[in-house]
Amino acid sequence: MSDDRVVTLVEDLERTLLDFIRKHHVTHDEYRAATDLIIAEVQAGEASLLFDVFFEAAATDVQNEGRAGSIEAIEGPFYVPGAPWLEGPPYRMPQRPDEEGVPLVFHGRVTTEDGTPLGDVEMDLWHADADGLYSQIHPGLPEWNLRGRFRSDDEGRYEVHTFAPPPYEIPKDGPTGRVLNALGRHFFRPAHLHVKLRHPYFGERTSQLYFEGGQYLETDVASAVRDELVIAAELVEDRDRIAHHGFTDTFVDARYDFAFTPSDAVSRA
Ligand SMILES: [Fe+2]
Repeated sequence: MSDDRVVTLVEDLERTLLDFIRKHHVTHDEYRAATDLIIAEVQAGEASLLFDVFFEAAATDVQNEGRAGSIEAIEGPFYVPGAPWLEGPPYRMPQRPDEEGVPLVFHGRVTTEDGTPLGDVEMDLWHADADGLYSQIHPGLPEWNLRGRFRSDDEGRYEVHTFAPPPYEIPKDGPTGRVLNALGRHFFRPAHLHVKLRHPYFGERTSQLYFEGGQYLETDVASAVRDELVIAAELVEDRDRIAHHGFTDTFVDARYDFAFTPSDAVSRA
């Protein structure tokens, strides 16, 4: 960010907050309560959570303005870089022997906006387990559980086997929880997959995909659901398809095609 941009943004934020204080006749006690809240968020390690819940989706929308092809989505506070490369294909996410949940086949293609296949795209997938918990974030899970990296093939295709994640509640016992409680809001995010794509020319793309018909799509605590990111999730009961994927019981099939836009290439070149 340039120095000029910092001056523009900080001075306008300053004016906006000064207007806000005057408009609402914010008292000194109320002002101090607000600064204490920010300090409490930092001390609880929740500063990112608080800002992500309220503001990250809006910043992502701005980044998506005028973009054709796949839109970007919020990263959220639970990404951990350096996930293991998976053996395959077929790729199977790191999991416990008794990992709970309905098996999920997540697949699709990665192309440019005009449909040209993009092979060798690094895909970095992470999501919650059946209890709504993330490895490396919540205690008691094996390192890198349900976090892994794999690549699209020469045709731009990808397929990975994992487990359908559930909706989950964001941490509610800390200062962010106190704020949401005061607003009378719930703590749920709809079920979702997080994925980052990386390509040497097109750069990095952060996505997050939700499932059609899922709970909390309309009232996501992070206000991050966008129609383009909601994908069909088919419960497959056909015995041949179940056997084809090496499962013994029903599974969920979810497809999403990622399209990189030329504008990415221009802006990142
Ligand atoms: Fe998440």
